[in-house]
Amino acid sequence: MSRVLLEGRGDFAEWRNAARSLAATGIPPEEIDWRERDGGTDLFAEPEALPPSPASGKAPMTVPPAFIALAEAVICHSDPIRFMLLYRLLWRLQEDRTLLDVASDEDVSRLRMMEKSVRRDAHKMSAFVRFKEVGTGLSVNGRRKFLAWFEPDHHILARKAPFFQKRFNDMDWIIATPRGSAAWDGVTLTLSSDPCEKPDLTDPADQLWRTYYANIFNPARLKVKAMQAEMPKKYWKNLPEADLIPGLIAAAEGKVLAMAARQASEPLPFHGRLQQAARNVPAAPKLPAGTLAALREEASVCTRCPLHQTATQTVFGEGPQDAQVMFVGEQPGDQEDLAGHPFVGPAGKVFDQVIGDAGIDRRAIYVTNAVKHFKYEPRGRRRIHQRPNLGEVAHCRWWLNLEIDLIKPKLIVAMGATALASLTDAKRKLSDVRGQAIPLSGARTLFVTVHPSYLLRIPDPRLKAEEMVRFQDDMLQVRGLMG
Ligand code: URA
Repeated sequence: MSRVLLEGRGDFAEWRNAARSLAATGIPPEEIDWRERDGGTDLFAEPEALPPSPASGKAPMTVPPAFIALAEAVICHSDPIRFMLLYRLLWRLQEDRTLLDVASDEDVSRLRMMEKSVRRDAHKMSAFVRFKEVGTGLSVNGRRKFLAWFEPDHHILARKAPFFQKRFNDMDWIIATPRGSAAWDGVTLTLSSDPCEKPDLTDPADQLWRTYYANIFNPARLKVKAMQAEMPKKYWKNLPEADLIPGLIAAAEGKVLAMAARQASEPLPFHGRLQQAARNVPAAPKLPAGTLAALREEASVCTRCPLHQTATQTVFGEGPQDAQVMFVGEQPGDQEDLAGHPFVGPAGKVFDQVIGDAGIDRRAIYVTNAVKHFKYEPRGRRRIHQRPNLGEVAHCRWWLNLEIDLIKPKLIVAMGATALASLTDAKRKLSDVRGQAIPLSGARTLFVTVHPSYLLRIPDPRLKAEEMVRFQDDMLQVRGLMG
């Protein structure tokens, strides 16, 4: 009997190398005892040396590509029997190349179920990982830092980590699990198989999740079984909104009846929302007047225009109160609306990159928008950006002017036509004033450039590169004006 001891942490190459060696030596499945290193009794055992690959000239085993895809998923399963089942299938495939198509075959069907379980676990990980910001400072590379805790059933972390790297590329994060951790710092994705302890992760964003969940919960569409299948109870303990679910389910029937009863006589939801928002306006500001924090709090319940009804939240400007330079964009986009911070989505990435290259430190500038709520048109599950109209810009100028009065920047950079219209109230064409330093009252200067999202929308790569260089030049000019 050949004993093979593997780490068994979802590492396909580890199993493949062992299987290749055993197969090349002609060792049949029933003569191999596959063990996993963390299986308790084998903790200190040494693996029996794998037989060397024979120089017999025997043709190496080959497999159909579908086997590789299956094996890469199954190897992440937590059941130690996976090594044996995969090897047995590998062995049998040499006799019958079509075996994978035989769904009723016992090995195939067991492996397919394991594959499904791994894929489901990975899917749940993308849905239920909740990053929490840790500390208030930025990391050494100027990025915000986040931590998440997740309890996977299988060894899926290495398989799933590239998804999070792509999706949350612009922040530093660690995902800790009882089966190891993954960390991203903008350059390197580091994986560790050392088990982690559950950290204490309550933070103020939990309340946002709860508000969001309570708002998207539609009692008229409640299907308890489907809901429990989509969000199984075992994940609840790590989801801030989960404890709302029993109450929402219990109240659903009553709410549906009430909705039906008031259909003809109740005012439109629009009116209800306005009244609700008006009730939420703090009677007296809780924070010291004349501070950015107080202004932000006031703006958080703004109902000056109808955009607040469909946006998730007010996205107010950010930066130090004594910033010398203020950058003004158009309005928050989809990602900014969800995150509550300006310029954190795709346009924000371009912005960060170009100002960084020009030597402008984002932490030293104030970044805001002409309009503080996301305007969009729902299309299926997507929210398509809509340009704010002049009325919306005029309503929101209230906040922009208060930001300017408070921060007193020496230089204001208008990015795009909406910012220009808001800041000058004159019908100037952006292309006529782009790259110019225009004096404003109070010894203040306005510099005009394009909006970074304009660069993202240019389809022709050559034109895009040219426009990027122009934007970079503009930012170098801004750097010069900053002194
Ligand atoms: N575009 C903007 O104008 N502002 C943002 O915050 C994001 C995208």
